[in-house]
Amino acid sequence: MRWRSLVLDRSMELKMRINHFPTTVAAANAVADRIAERLKATPNVVLGLATGATMEPVYERLVALHRAGEISFAGVTSFNLDEYVGLPPEDPRSYRATMDSQLFDLVDIDKSRTFVPDGLAADPAAFASRYEAMIREAGGIDLQLLGIGRNGHIGFNEPGADFAARTRVVDLEESTLEANSAFFDGALPPTQAMTMGIGTILESREIIVLATGATKRDAVRTALLGAVTPDCPATVLRRHANVSWWLDAESGADVAGESLAAE
Ligand code: GLP
Repeated sequence: MRWRSLVLDRSMELKMRINHFPTTVAAANAVADRIAERLKATPNVVLGLATGATMEPVYERLVALHRAGEISFAGVTSFNLDEYVGLPPEDPRSYRATMDSQLFDLVDIDKSRTFVPDGLAADPAAFASRYEAMIREAGGIDLQLLGIGRNGHIGFNEPGADFAARTRVVDLEESTLEANSAFFDGALPPTQAMTMGIGTILESREIIVLATGATKRDAVRTALLGAVTPDCPATVLRRHANVSWWLDAESGADVAGESLAAE
């Protein structure tokens, strides 16, 4: 069952499409199916990809669909949102290794066209502007998959980030380090990351935000119903014309809004 609601912002000009699902798995599967549809329609689609626990079931389903012969990644180019500074790509906790093990090594994607920020770049500013140039040269991102941090971050753009920011190195908030320590056997992750900027993210033609679980409930409510402010970076998504939110019962509990239809 899928409930859809619309949230109008205060100017009543923009609307967000919100897809509600009863379970985490249902929400993740629906996002994977949406990406799969896009792949079938546009085999050379440029994808923006995200890491994190939220995305794991999405990649699992995409791999399953590929194994079932339903989708091919052969024409895809991908750009990941972010990477920890100081982690080599071979480190299993790096986002490069995570993407390899959860998706890239399990499908027919051309790995030379999978791009992840370089956490070891000797000159991070130079790398970051090259990354931006590579995105432009690929024709821009057609479909950006986004998670959301408990503090409302997108990519690793923490509260306070400039809405116009481009790819750069940022300091991570204490709460982000704590949340992500789950991936580091309880130890703290690196304190810096290279992330696409909010300005970079907003240039994507379409954005899909997947948020699941009770820990995202507050961030989702603020992102959708609070004032648009850098204090909650995800609020900026209300200024984008083509964003959809995909929520489970827990994350979407406060934003059910007016349910218009059951599909
Ligand atoms: C992480 C990533 C984000 C991700 C978010 C949520 O730190 N940098 O890109 O979307 O925070 O992560 P999770 O899905 O593990 O909750």
